[in-house]
Amino acid sequence: MEIFLDTANLDELRKGADWGIVDGVTTNPSLIAKEGIPIAEQIKRICEIVDGDISAEVVATDHEAMVAEARTLAKIHKNIVVKVPLTRDGIKTTAKLSKEGIRFNVTLCFSTSQALLAAKAGAYIISPFVGRLDDLSQEGMELIRNIVSIYKIHSYPTKVLAASLRSPLHVSQSALAGAHIGTLPFKVLDMMFNHPLTDKGVEQFLKDHAKAFTPK
Ligand code: G3P
Repeated sequence: MEIFLDTANLDELRKGADWGIVDGVTTNPSLIAKEGIPIAEQIKRICEIVDGDISAEVVATDHEAMVAEARTLAKIHKNIVVKVPLTRDGIKTTAKLSKEGIRFNVTLCFSTSQALLAAKAGAYIISPFVGRLDDLSQEGMELIRNIVSIYKIHSYPTKVLAASLRSPLHVSQSALAGAHIGTLPFKVLDMMFNHPLTDKGVEQFLKDHAKAFTPK
Protein backbone atom coordinates (compact mmCIF):
# COMPACT_ATOMS: atom_id res chain seq x y z
CA MET A 1 0.00 0.00 0.00
CA GLU A 2 1.25 3.45 -0.87
CA ILE A 3 1.63 5.88 2.01
CA PHE A 4 0.58 9.49 1.44
CA LEU A 5 0.85 12.34 3.90
CA ASP A 6 -2.38 14.26 4.47
CA THR A 7 -0.87 17.67 5.13
CA ALA A 8 0.13 20.92 3.43
CA ASN A 9 2.76 21.66 6.06
CA LEU A 10 6.22 21.81 4.47
CA ASP A 11 8.16 20.88 7.62
CA GLU A 12 6.06 17.74 8.08
CA LEU A 13 6.49 16.87 4.40
CA ARG A 14 10.28 17.37 4.57
CA LYS A 15 10.51 15.10 7.63
CA GLY A 16 8.35 12.40 6.01
CA ALA A 17 10.21 12.61 2.69
CA ASP A 18 13.50 12.34 4.55
CA TRP A 19 12.45 8.93 5.92
CA GLY A 20 12.12 7.72 2.33
CA ILE A 21 8.66 6.21 2.76
CA VAL A 22 6.27 8.87 1.48
CA ASP A 23 4.74 8.12 -1.92
CA GLY A 24 2.49 11.15 -2.30
CA VAL A 25 0.51 13.92 -0.64
CA THR A 26 -3.13 14.83 -0.22
CA THR A 27 -4.28 18.32 0.62
CA ASN A 28 -7.69 19.90 1.02
CA PRO A 29 -8.94 23.48 1.45
CA SER A 30 -8.82 23.17 5.27
CA LEU A 31 -5.17 21.98 5.25
CA ILE A 32 -4.13 24.71 2.77
CA ALA A 33 -5.93 27.35 4.87
CA LYS A 34 -3.95 26.26 7.96
CA GLU A 35 -0.70 27.20 6.17
CA GLY A 36 -2.05 30.60 5.04
CA ILE A 37 -0.31 30.46 1.62
CA PRO A 38 -2.27 30.65 -1.67
CA ILE A 39 -2.94 27.17 -3.03
CA ALA A 40 -0.94 27.38 -6.30
CA GLU A 41 2.16 28.59 -4.46
CA GLN A 42 1.92 26.01 -1.66
CA ILE A 43 1.26 23.16 -4.10
CA LYS A 44 4.33 24.14 -6.14
CA ARG A 45 6.47 23.97 -2.98
CA ILE A 46 4.98 20.58 -2.05
CA CYS A 47 5.83 19.23 -5.53
CA GLU A 48 9.46 20.21 -4.94
CA ILE A 49 9.59 18.14 -1.74
CA VAL A 50 7.68 14.96 -2.65
CA ASP A 51 8.02 13.25 -6.02
CA GLY A 52 4.67 11.47 -6.27
CA ASP A 53 0.97 12.13 -6.74
CA ILE A 54 -0.04 15.42 -5.12
CA SER A 55 -3.77 16.03 -4.67
CA ALA A 56 -4.90 19.66 -4.97
CA GLU A 57 -8.56 20.35 -4.30
CA VAL A 58 -10.91 22.74 -6.07
CA VAL A 59 -13.04 25.14 -4.04
CA ALA A 60 -15.53 25.78 -6.85
CA THR A 61 -18.86 24.02 -6.44
CA ASP A 62 -20.46 24.34 -9.88
CA HIS A 63 -19.33 22.40 -12.94
CA GLU A 64 -18.17 25.30 -15.14
CA ALA A 65 -16.08 26.86 -12.38
CA MET A 66 -14.72 23.45 -11.35
CA VAL A 67 -13.58 22.76 -14.92
CA ALA A 68 -11.69 26.05 -15.05
CA GLU A 69 -10.13 25.53 -11.62
CA ALA A 70 -9.22 21.90 -12.38
CA ARG A 71 -7.44 22.94 -15.57
CA THR A 72 -5.48 25.63 -13.69
CA LEU A 73 -4.48 23.23 -10.88
CA ALA A 74 -3.48 20.48 -13.32
CA LYS A 75 -1.08 22.88 -15.03
CA ILE A 76 0.92 23.54 -11.84
CA HIS A 77 2.96 20.31 -12.10
CA LYS A 78 2.87 16.94 -13.87
CA ASN A 79 2.23 15.14 -10.56
CA ILE A 80 -0.98 17.01 -9.74
CA VAL A 81 -4.13 15.00 -9.15
CA VAL A 82 -7.15 17.32 -9.06
CA LYS A 83 -9.41 16.66 -6.10
CA VAL A 84 -13.15 17.24 -6.38
CA PRO A 85 -15.98 16.47 -3.98
CA LEU A 86 -18.35 13.60 -4.74
CA THR A 87 -21.20 15.83 -5.90
CA ARG A 88 -23.09 15.84 -9.19
CA ASP A 89 -20.86 18.68 -10.42
CA GLY A 90 -17.72 16.92 -9.16
CA ILE A 91 -18.60 13.70 -11.00
CA LYS A 92 -19.55 15.60 -14.17
CA THR A 93 -16.20 17.43 -14.05
CA THR A 94 -14.32 14.15 -13.51
CA ALA A 95 -16.09 12.48 -16.43
CA LYS A 96 -15.37 15.40 -18.75
CA LEU A 97 -11.74 16.12 -17.92
CA SER A 98 -10.56 12.52 -17.28
CA LYS A 99 -11.06 12.01 -21.02
CA GLU A 100 -8.56 14.84 -21.59
CA GLY A 101 -5.98 13.12 -19.42
CA ILE A 102 -6.41 15.11 -16.19
CA ARG A 103 -6.27 12.76 -13.19
CA PHE A 104 -8.95 13.10 -10.49
CA ASN A 105 -9.19 12.19 -6.83
CA VAL A 106 -12.89 12.13 -5.95
CA THR A 107 -13.18 12.92 -2.26
CA LEU A 108 -15.75 12.90 0.55
CA CYS A 109 -16.96 9.42 -0.39
CA PHE A 110 -19.14 7.76 2.24
CA SER A 111 -20.91 4.95 0.34
CA THR A 112 -20.29 2.18 -2.17
CA SER A 113 -22.81 3.67 -4.60
CA GLN A 114 -20.89 6.96 -4.58
CA ALA A 115 -17.67 5.01 -5.23
CA LEU A 116 -19.31 3.31 -8.21
CA LEU A 117 -20.15 6.71 -9.71
CA ALA A 118 -16.54 7.88 -9.33
CA ALA A 119 -15.23 4.75 -11.07
CA LYS A 120 -17.77 5.18 -13.89
CA ALA A 121 -16.58 8.79 -14.32
CA GLY A 122 -13.01 7.56 -14.79
CA ALA A 123 -11.60 8.81 -11.48
CA TYR A 124 -7.94 7.96 -10.90
CA ILE A 125 -8.52 7.84 -7.13
CA ILE A 126 -11.56 7.51 -4.86
CA SER A 127 -11.23 8.75 -1.27
CA PRO A 128 -13.56 7.06 1.23
CA PHE A 129 -13.35 8.62 4.73
CA VAL A 130 -12.87 6.02 7.47
CA GLY A 131 -12.69 8.08 10.66
CA ARG A 132 -15.67 10.29 9.88
CA LEU A 133 -17.87 7.20 9.46
CA ASP A 134 -16.50 5.70 12.69
CA ASP A 135 -17.46 9.01 14.35
CA LEU A 136 -21.09 8.24 13.42
CA SER A 137 -20.87 4.68 14.73
CA GLN A 138 -20.67 3.23 11.21
CA GLU A 139 -17.72 0.96 10.46
CA GLY A 140 -15.51 2.98 8.11
CA MET A 141 -13.25 0.04 7.33
CA GLU A 142 -16.17 -1.97 5.99
CA LEU A 143 -16.62 0.72 3.34
CA ILE A 144 -12.98 0.31 2.26
CA ARG A 145 -13.39 -3.49 2.02
CA ASN A 146 -16.59 -3.19 -0.02
CA ILE A 147 -15.26 -0.62 -2.48
CA VAL A 148 -12.10 -2.70 -3.01
CA SER A 149 -14.32 -5.74 -3.73
CA ILE A 150 -16.63 -3.92 -6.14
CA TYR A 151 -13.72 -2.44 -8.09
CA LYS A 152 -12.06 -5.85 -8.25
CA ILE A 153 -15.22 -7.65 -9.43
CA HIS A 154 -15.72 -5.13 -12.23
CA SER A 155 -12.02 -4.48 -12.97
CA TYR A 156 -12.25 -0.72 -12.40
CA PRO A 157 -8.73 0.76 -12.42
CA THR A 158 -9.68 3.51 -9.91
CA LYS A 159 -7.36 3.38 -6.88
CA VAL A 160 -8.91 3.22 -3.42
CA LEU A 161 -7.33 5.78 -1.09
CA ALA A 162 -8.31 5.29 2.55
CA ALA A 163 -8.68 8.79 4.03
CA SER A 164 -9.58 10.18 7.43
CA LEU A 165 -7.23 7.66 9.06
CA ARG A 166 -6.74 8.57 12.69
CA SER A 167 -4.45 5.84 14.07
CA PRO A 168 -1.76 3.31 13.11
CA LEU A 169 -4.43 0.60 13.49
CA HIS A 170 -6.56 2.34 10.84
CA VAL A 171 -3.52 2.27 8.52
CA SER A 172 -2.79 -1.44 8.88
CA GLN A 173 -6.50 -2.31 8.68
CA SER A 174 -6.70 -0.32 5.41
CA ALA A 175 -3.75 -2.27 4.04
CA LEU A 176 -5.44 -5.54 5.02
CA ALA A 177 -8.69 -4.39 3.40
CA GLY A 178 -6.83 -3.95 0.11
CA ALA A 179 -6.70 -0.15 -0.10
CA HIS A 180 -4.13 0.90 -2.70
CA ILE A 181 -3.21 4.04 -0.78
CA GLY A 182 -3.58 5.28 2.79
CA THR A 183 -3.28 8.98 3.51
CA LEU A 184 -2.39 9.96 7.04
CA PRO A 185 -1.63 12.99 9.14
CA PHE A 186 2.07 13.31 10.01
CA LYS A 187 1.27 12.46 13.66
CA VAL A 188 -0.15 9.07 12.66
CA LEU A 189 2.84 8.28 10.41
CA ASP A 190 5.17 9.17 13.28
CA MET A 191 3.20 6.95 15.70
CA MET A 192 3.57 3.97 13.33
CA PHE A 193 7.24 3.70 14.32
CA ASN A 194 6.51 3.25 18.00
CA HIS A 195 6.77 0.02 19.95
CA PRO A 196 8.14 -0.13 23.52
CA LEU A 197 9.83 -3.49 22.81
CA THR A 198 11.81 -1.91 19.95
CA ASP A 199 13.09 0.83 22.29
CA LYS A 200 13.81 -1.70 25.03
CA GLY A 201 15.60 -3.99 22.55
CA VAL A 202 17.84 -1.19 21.21
CA GLU A 203 18.71 -0.14 24.76
CA GLN A 204 19.62 -3.72 25.72
CA PHE A 205 21.75 -4.30 22.58
CA LEU A 206 23.72 -1.12 23.22
CA LYS A 207 24.20 -1.96 26.92
CA ASP A 208 25.49 -5.47 26.10
CA HIS A 209 27.78 -4.11 23.37
CA ALA A 210 29.18 -1.43 25.64
CA LYS A 211 29.77 -3.98 28.46
CA ALA A 212 31.74 -6.26 26.15
CA PHE A 213 33.80 -3.65 24.34
CA THR A 214 34.39 -0.84 26.82
CA PRO A 215 38.01 -1.08 28.06
CA LYS A 216 38.09 -1.90 31.79
O1 G3P B 1 -8.06 14.77 3.75
C1 G3P B 1 -9.24 14.56 4.41
C2 G3P B 1 -9.24 13.59 5.55
O2 G3P B 1 -8.21 12.70 5.56
C3 G3P B 1 -9.69 14.22 6.80
O3 G3P B 1 -9.53 13.48 7.98
O4 G3P B 1 -9.59 13.26 10.42
O5 G3P B 1 -10.52 15.35 9.35
O6 G3P B 1 -11.74 13.20 9.16
P1 G3P B 1 -10.38 13.85 9.30
